[in-house]
Amino acid sequence: MRVTVSVLKADVGGFVGHSNMHPRLVEIARESLDAAKIDGKIIDYYVAYCGDDLNLIVTHTKGEDSPEIHKLAWDVFLRCTEAAKKLKLYGAGQDLLSDAFSGNLKGMGPGYAEMELEERKSEPIIIFMADKTSPGAWNLPLYKIFADPFNTPGLVIDPSMHDGFVFEVMDVVDNKVALLSTPEESYDLLVLIGASSRYMVRSVYRKSDGAIAAKASVQRLNFMAGRYVGKDDPVLVVRCQSGFPAVGEVLEAFAFPHLVEGWMRGSHNGPLMPVAFEDATPARFDGPPRVIAAGFQLSDGQLIGPVDLFRDRSFDYTRVKALEITDYMRRHGPFEPHRLHLEEMEYTTLPDVLKKLGSRFKDAED
Ligand code: F6R
Ligand code: MG
Ligand code: MG
Repeated sequence: MRVTVSVLKADVGGFVGHSNMHPRLVEIARESLDAAKIDGKIIDYYVAYCGDDLNLIVTHTKGEDSPEIHKLAWDVFLRCTEAAKKLKLYGAGQDLLSDAFSGNLKGMGPGYAEMELEERKSEPIIIFMADKTSPGAWNLPLYKIFADPFNTPGLVIDPSMHDGFVFEVMDVVDNKVALLSTPEESYDLLVLIGASSRYMVRSVYRKSDGAIAAKASVQRLNFMAGRYVGKDDPVLVVRCQSGFPAVGEVLEAFAFPHLVEGWMRGSHNGPLMPVAFEDATPARFDGPPRVIAAGFQLSDGQLIGPVDLFRDRSFDYTRVKALEITDYMRRHGPFEPHRLHLEEMEYTTLPDVLKKLGSRFKDAED
């Protein structure tokens, strides 16, 4: 059976500030998707949230970029925004950039990752959802999962993965995509995706048969609005087992809390901390950046789950490490590399400061 898993997300208002989700918004999203399920528009749904981001996980048979599914999500986000405005939640409707829906969520503000797949005899998938970071945060774990045998021994010892994987990389500045094949083009791939604010992995395919293995959201709110209006708190869908990396190989890539862009005012580097659903509540310095992992078994499109995969004790050490790094990075205060490069910052006063100081800058002697 061909099924599409759509994960559609937006920040429609924070509680309190940018830290958490008000239960009323979750309730409204559930009610709306429940109605769509009863109507037969979708097969199943699950409403998740990470920090101030609402994530609608929907299964259906309408394929990727379906106007009907995108409109459904848009309407849910609008309904939640209305409630957020009534409660005066913070930044109500902040990710909805337009008033009129035009057939597709592209360029409208919400982010999404969609995967159409032929459901296998057993189809385990993991949906990762993050807050206080951007889609470039997936580059390092995706490389580890699908191209690094020190993370994924299956690449070496499982014949069905031994040919490697193909990465689709998007240049979000020039809006172009390229396919790179691993292991043979690993070094070319790394030179691109190491620059994770510009080159982002959008999809991963198994080389032997072209089967889809992972899909990430790569919308960049800042560029879409023509100015920097926010990090995009990305989502990622990964297929697991039987010819794809095992659940544990996929999770292993998050055992290292690598530095990602985002955090306070979308202008700082900080560690990506894997947490249980109930701990996806950024607090210290609006962070540190969080990621949750929802595991499901698909069964004729039904979402059997979720299992809260980062809740497990085996990630305790990663969390402690992330908190140590949080402390260490914070001590840099307003200095790089805690603070981002000038061109990546969401907030800056530099033009005003330069204007004010203009005449005080004299030519420096050679
Ligand atoms: C980061 C984020 C927050 C805000 C910060 C200031 O992605 O959402 O760190 O940038 O709380 O928010 P404003 O400018 O809305 O007061
Ligand atoms: Mg927010
Ligand atoms: Mg957010």
